[in-house]
Amino acid sequence: MLTAIIGGSGLERLEGLTITRREIVRTEYGEPSGPLTFGQMSGREVVFLNRHGPGHTIPPHRVNYRANLKAMKHAGVGRIIAINAVGGITADLEAIGLVIPDQIIDYTYSRMHTFYGSEHGPVKHVDFTYPYTESLRRKIINTALQNGMNITASGTYAATQGPRFETAAEIDRMERDGATIVGMTGMPEAILARELGLDYAMIAVVSNAAAGRSGDEISVEEIMSKLQMGMDKTRALIELVIPRL
Ligand code: HPA
Repeated sequence: MLTAIIGGSGLERLEGLTITRREIVRTEYGEPSGPLTFGQMSGREVVFLNRHGPGHTIPPHRVNYRANLKAMKHAGVGRIIAINAVGGITADLEAIGLVIPDQIIDYTYSRMHTFYGSEHGPVKHVDFTYPYTESLRRKIINTALQNGMNITASGTYAATQGPRFETAAEIDRMERDGATIVGMTGMPEAILARELGLDYAMIAVVSNAAAGRSGDEISVEEIMSKLQMGMDKTRALIELVIPRL
């Protein structure tokens, strides 16, 4: 089964991937964020897609998630490991820590969030009780633990609309709702993968304390410097996970 990595902020390219070809794919939902990059990683074929496009030009609410996922499906991808930068809501989540979430609360709006929404298409209600593929989550978690990497093996991902960061009161509400991490790109990507029958799990990289959690304002410069370290860790984990899939 072909594996895809969708990279987010801080992981615009995947070092360690020996690139064999790039493919520009068009879908009935439009163009994906960029070409699909095929290559070898840890002895396996892997496809990489940069969610925010070349030069980080596509903000979270304008990513064509449907085209990205359809392009993956057309390319024969069977499973996706998504990499997402997040703010940490709960106090025990340190910057540059990795979280493998097991739940989602979706606060996004006005995004093209389903393949079953057209007036002509079939109506289909898809089960999403457990939004991430548990077997894939387990492989990532076990690989990390067996290699002495410190990760948080569960979490509830709050998906926000962006591109602004949240207010302190919004983060308080999300915490009351049960969310532990917050980011702008986790949805609708996860449900679209489910609708297409693709395995999907996320490695969330904590780049900052969420709004109102550190006393400071949120600084993009700080996020970017933390992300560099977090992404190095993520890349190392992916290289270990790939041969075990
Ligand atoms: N909020 C939303 N998205 C994010 C954050 C945050 O604090 N940090 C990184 N992505």
